[in-house]
Amino acid sequence: MYVFANWKMYLDYTESVALASALKNNVKNSKLQLAVFPSALAFAGVKAELEESAVSVGAQNVYWVDRGGYTGEVSAAMYRGLDARYALVGHSERRHVFGETNHDVRQKLEAILAAGLNPVICVGETLKEREAGKTKDVLEIQLRAALAGLVWPSGMRLIIAYEPVWAISRGVGLEAAVPPCGAAAAEACQSDIVDFAGGLLPGVIPAVLYGGSVRPGTVSDYLTQAHSSGVLVGAAATTLASWQNICAEAERLA
Ligand code: PGA
Repeated sequence: MYVFANWKMYLDYTESVALASALKNNVKNSKLQLAVFPSALAFAGVKAELEESAVSVGAQNVYWVDRGGYTGEVSAAMYRGLDARYALVGHSERRHVFGETNHDVRQKLEAILAAGLNPVICVGETLKEREAGKTKDVLEIQLRAALAGLVWPSGMRLIIAYEPVWAISRGVGLEAAVPPCGAAAAEACQSDIVDFAGGLLPGVIPAVLYGGSVRPGTVSDYLTQAHSSGVLVGAAATTLASWQNICAEAERLA
């Protein structure tokens, strides 16, 4: 079972390293697959802090060219150089705030695989798409663009996060600002994702995570669904107490 923490741009360098240090001291042997995704700025500091801990470290975003004149970007190969284990790709904030296309996601995914990092492929529909009855189509289009014709490396886990764009939180305490995605609605999409992925990469069994306003009080609802292999948590994973409560629930169910 995966419990992944996407710190987004919630924490500055000092806060990121301090939280990593607290995690190291508080998270000992776990049955869970744990990872944090700090900002590019804090990556090296967090990685150094979590060396030899049960918590892996991943990149929130990568660029697909290894190096060159790409102001502001960090490549998958450069993250590999710091022993990143995972990389998010296709996160809805990348798609919808920064305009990443399905084609960009594919290029990033290929670069992540070439660098030997384990991608976490994020897919999900907007509220408009859901209300138009297009959820299944959107998931299929995003997965097809990412995975069609790909030779999946043996030994690499296919991890897909279902993250309905409309259910992603604005921060802890701001739960009322977005409609919740119930666990049953998430499960319906997770089941579709397993079917689509199976058709695109026969024989590769995906681990499907849910992300979108997961909180300590709701995490068990998501984790107990038939097609759930874990959660990708944003805001609620940016403080030690909240993260520990989420992990304790997951540990109980693992
Ligand atoms: P959230 O973020 O838990 O704050 O909704 C999840 C994500 O976007 O990965």
